[in-house]
Amino acid sequence: MPHLHHLLLTFLLLLLTHPHPPPPPTPLPPMGPRRRPIPPTGAPDDRVFIPDAHLKANLARAPADRTPAFVRMPVQRKTVNGTGKWEHGMHWDGTPGERGKRNGLDIGTPPQRVMVFLDTGSYELWVNPRCNTSANAEICENHGHYYPEKSNTSKFVANGFSVRYGTGEAVGHYFRDVIGIAMFILPFVQFAVASDTEYTFTGIFGLGYASSASMGHPPILEWLVHEQLIYGKIFSIGLGSHGDEFCEIIFGGVNRHKFAGYLEPVPIWPPVKDQSPYWIQYWINATSVGMTKDGEKPFVWTRKDAFNMPCMLDTGSTLSYIREDLVAAIGQQFNAWVEGTSTYRVDCSWREKKGTVDFGFNKGRMVINVSYRDFIWEMFKGQCYLGVQPADAGATNYVLGNTFIRAAYLVFDQQSDMIWMSQYYNCGDGVVTVGINPMDIQNIRGTC
Ligand SMILES: *[C@@H]1O[C@H](CO)[C@@H](O)[C@H](O)[C@H]1NC(C)=O
Ligand SMILES: *[C@@H]1O[C@H](CO)[C@@H](O)[C@H](O)[C@H]1NC(C)=O
Ligand SMILES: *[C@@H]1O[C@H](CO)[C@@H](O)[C@H](O)[C@H]1NC(C)=O
Ligand SMILES: *[C@@H]1O[C@H](CO)[C@@H](O)[C@H](O)[C@H]1NC(C)=O
Ligand SMILES: *[C@@H]1O[C@H](CO)[C@@H](O)[C@H](O)[C@H]1NC(C)=O
Repeated sequence: MPHLHHLLLTFLLLLLTHPHPPPPPTPLPPMGPRRRPIPPTGAPDDRVFIPDAHLKANLARAPADRTPAFVRMPVQRKTVNGTGKWEHGMHWDGTPGERGKRNGLDIGTPPQRVMVFLDTGSYELWVNPRCNTSANAEICENHGHYYPEKSNTSKFVANGFSVRYGTGEAVGHYFRDVIGIAMFILPFVQFAVASDTEYTFTGIFGLGYASSASMGHPPILEWLVHEQLIYGKIFSIGLGSHGDEFCEIIFGGVNRHKFAGYLEPVPIWPPVKDQSPYWIQYWINATSVGMTKDGEKPFVWTRKDAFNMPCMLDTGSTLSYIREDLVAAIGQQFNAWVEGTSTYRVDCSWREKKGTVDFGFNKGRMVINVSYRDFIWEMFKGQCYLGVQPADAGATNYVLGNTFIRAAYLVFDQQSDMIWMSQYYNCGDGVVTVGINPMDIQNIRGTC
């Protein structure tokens, strides 16, 4: 029944991009138009981090023989048939027929390989989606589950894991176990094992701004620093553009061969200290939105020096969600038509044309030009969507998802509270360690 399957997937993918607003959470997170994980209700102390002898021993142990450097997730790629609409492994952006970004975590003793999504918009690590309520049961079943009873190092910690996304939710239990990430072993990490989930077909690796204080247990990034594998809470993401066989995440390092010139520091705003400690996100101001058509002069829709659009950087979002008037203006340039209440469709032939949609930061000091190919999202063969869609009515905060992120090389820096960015290029390979001193990223020059 391929047709039914197709329809079902269409429906679910639309849900992904256009969820119902979740009920009001406590504390109230900033308005994000979609896929908002709801922060934990109750005090963070509810999510107990029970110290025990094993953990204490590990926390006390200073890996004396170790010089921190960087941890780079190895990336395997494979082509996935268009019907899958799926890039699996560490990252998925819903693009059909494209390369797979296969990667995972090795949990337990002996290791069990589990695939997870890379998500800067949430901060828990959890595994074991329930496949019969997922958007694609087959993919779900083939991407790894973790069985605590099969690991001789697993330890039950507590009940009460619960996180809600715009596209569904996950509930379950906390466990602790060893986790292999790249070639390194983290001794005793707490994460969640889901008992019930909706929609998602892999676990999620939340890379949001969390700390042991806010989460009740240390997030992976903190473990990497604690284990002296990396110097600071910093990671870089290059998703790779369409037609480019590249995608990686580097903890504690920057790949100089993925950009040209310097990385512009864009401050997180509102400042981290002004955000709720239980709900810190990678918010940055976009300061211009424009377009460069093939052979024409660039133009911008926004007023110079007078435009600030707060956007959350979210690798878990396929599309970007911005102000409706801007979406309409961009849509007009692509002869877009509106489907349903507010979904902008476009002709797929735009993906073959030259031209870019341009997002500026720091009053135009850095402009990221997103090629039409990266900007137009082909959900199914011949079915294309504008890369920006209107945020929920009344929203004052927006999302830059993968239709922006693909065009940029991004460094998420929790040490200096900056997003460092530059236009993404791919001209080789070479990683430098960062985080030894705050702001040391400013001295790195791209080689492209
Ligand atoms: C991809 O899927 C289509 C439709 O199900 C099928 O006709 C085609 O043979 C598949 N291609 C490959 C390479 O598996
Ligand atoms: C756990 O299992 C691994 C391999 O399966 C084995 O090498 C190790 O000795 C076991 N550890 C304990 C504490 O049983
Ligand atoms: C779905 O799977 C769960 C176990 O993961 C099982 O308890 C439940 O009965 C299944 N539901 C259906 C409708 O198959
Ligand atoms: C990128 O966008 C900016 C601003 O719209 C423009 O000045 C610049 O020429 C564009 N660059 C390319 C390569 O399109
Ligand atoms: C971001 O935009 C707001 C207005 O929405 C402005 O008050 C704030 O100063 C800007 N922050 C930065 C760092 O530019």
